[in-house]
Amino acid sequence: MEEEIFKVLREKFKPFQGFPEYKEIPMNGIPREEIIGMIKKLIDNENKKWKEGYLSGCVYHGEDSHVEFLNEIYSIASQVNPLHPDVWPSSIKFEAEIVRMCSKIFNGKESVCGSVTSGGTESIFLAMKTYRDYARKKFAINEPEIILPVSAHAAFHKSAEYLGIRIKYVKLDEQFCANVEEIKEKISDKTIAIVASAPCFPYGTIDPIKDISEVAEDKNIPFHVDACLGGFILPWAKRLGYPVPSFDFELPGVTSISADLHKYGYSPKGVSVILYRDPELWRHQFYVNTKWPGGIYFSTTFQGSKAGGLLIAAWAAMLHLGEEGYIQATRKILEVADYIKENTSKFSEIKILGRPLWVLAFGSDVLNIYNVAEKMSEKGWGLNLLLNPPAFHIALTLRHDMSVARRFVSDLKISIEESKKLGSEAKGFAPIYGMMASLPVETSDELLSYLVQWMYMEP
Ligand SMILES: Cc1ncc(COP(=O)(O)O)c(C=O)c1O
Repeated sequence: MEEEIFKVLREKFKPFQGFPEYKEIPMNGIPREEIIGMIKKLIDNENKKWKEGYLSGCVYHGEDSHVEFLNEIYSIASQVNPLHPDVWPSSIKFEAEIVRMCSKIFNGKESVCGSVTSGGTESIFLAMKTYRDYARKKFAINEPEIILPVSAHAAFHKSAEYLGIRIKYVKLDEQFCANVEEIKEKISDKTIAIVASAPCFPYGTIDPIKDISEVAEDKNIPFHVDACLGGFILPWAKRLGYPVPSFDFELPGVTSISADLHKYGYSPKGVSVILYRDPELWRHQFYVNTKWPGGIYFSTTFQGSKAGGLLIAAWAAMLHLGEEGYIQATRKILEVADYIKENTSKFSEIKILGRPLWVLAFGSDVLNIYNVAEKMSEKGWGLNLLLNPPAFHIALTLRHDMSVARRFVSDLKISIEESKKLGSEAKGFAPIYGMMASLPVETSDELLSYLVQWMYMEP
């Protein structure tokens, strides 16, 4: 079993046979062309999969001319560091305008404020830190708790661990959305925030945000909506007439929103926003130090120095695409999703979990669904495996056009038939997922830490 696991991991994560290895800085520098050649060889090979539409999520736009445009902007601004607004005051302008444009998309009033961050995880981390510090100062809560649907992103678990916040978990209803009654039950005098997703990563389902907003407003508890995945799809989907419930500042109980520009905002990787309804909350996000020997220091986000070039490229993406560009992109993605939903509903062995718009999770009552994912993987697909219940999902992006959708449906049909022949036998990642699910949490966490260490240290 152990050998089998390492074999699978080696094939997946160590495909570098024949490439030179560097364990120290070379004494004499290598010519630029040679280095560029090596990088191109490695990355071009890896890019094939997303370019051909075989991956779930990962690259959300990816069209050559769009990527070239972003790269050109980055090359102009690669040295810009918003940590030094005295040197690059324009970085404040770019950041403030991104925040304003996002606020407008999310029905925010003038008072809505926030920051550009390095990604969804940082946006979420900052929201949780803000609520922890706000609750400590305002309500003297020293043993903070958040109320978290189990489908919320792992970044909330990570933030809670870093920040010393206890999580009170909320189960999902039969449609894979947070159970509002349970949220009410979990509220205590230590609750610093309630969290919901629009939509959640695993199932692409949107929590009942209107109902939760009412609870949060009634109890005067901050309410964070994680729209990292959906922030730049849902507003446009609504305009296109898709059934999108209210999820943003339009609802009075929503006090903050995270939304990733590096996903469906079509910016380069490393850009997200965190927005607050009220500047009083936002101030609790800042770090300030007026006594440091290095001089007066402040940073608004977790990072100190940050990549201004990425932020400016995100600003440029928003300006260039315009609302019309986002609406057209959303239309394409949702049409592909509708096609896949309709055609896979004919497969009796599998089912879509909940009622998602474009992140489609497939489970099964009769097959080992990980085997189906493994069979898809043999055909080139890179899908996300999910735990509890076993499932896999595909997050559709602009890389998935109708011809990719047809390929997905036909490969899925074949994979289901192939899996039926396998019976209960487990292949590829299936035994790893099966084992992780069956082990006690301490053991599986320790095992995973060991595997991660192996991944980075093993040549
Ligand atoms: C709903 C949701 N929240 C948060 C995140 C975390 O984002 P990042 O990977 O940019 O840190 C993701 C990533 O997929 C997500 O889907």
